[in-house]
Amino acid sequence: MAVQFNHTIILSRDREKSAQFLAEILGLSVGRPFGPFLPVVTANGVTLDFLTVGTDIPMQHYAFLVSEEEFDRILARLVQQKVPIWADPHGQEPGRINRNDGGRGVYFLDPSGHGMEAFTRPYGSDPSSPLHGVTEEVPGAAVSDKFPR
Ligand SMILES: [Fe+2]
Repeated sequence: MAVQFNHTIILSRDREKSAQFLAEILGLSVGRPFGPFLPVVTANGVTLDFLTVGTDIPMQHYAFLVSEEEFDRILARLVQQKVPIWADPHGQEPGRINRNDGGRGVYFLDPSGHGMEAFTRPYGSDPSSPLHGVTEEVPGAAVSDKFPR
């Protein structure tokens, strides 16, 4: 397979704020500005180019596959920074994570309202796991019912 996803633009109200937020939560770094773009690069070489716009921003979804150890750190940062979390993509289960496919997953919003997800097992990798569909409360997690639907 020769095709690799390389970069995309993430619309933001404030590119600095959004890029810093995501980089900080995920343990990545913010790159040097490239014209109007402020890049954050993932481990598999995808560049997320944050762009400040003054228009309405439709909610998009960005999902990041991480190791269990990274997930521990990501979840700890979300809790420490009081970023509200959910176990599901529809905001039905605040303050919790999911155990889908026997791994762990969490949803949170970025400063522009995009739906971010960090998870440890690809979708469908182990749907027969007894943990699939289970959610767990996260002690100390920020809880909010303000999830855009
Ligand atoms: Fe997703």
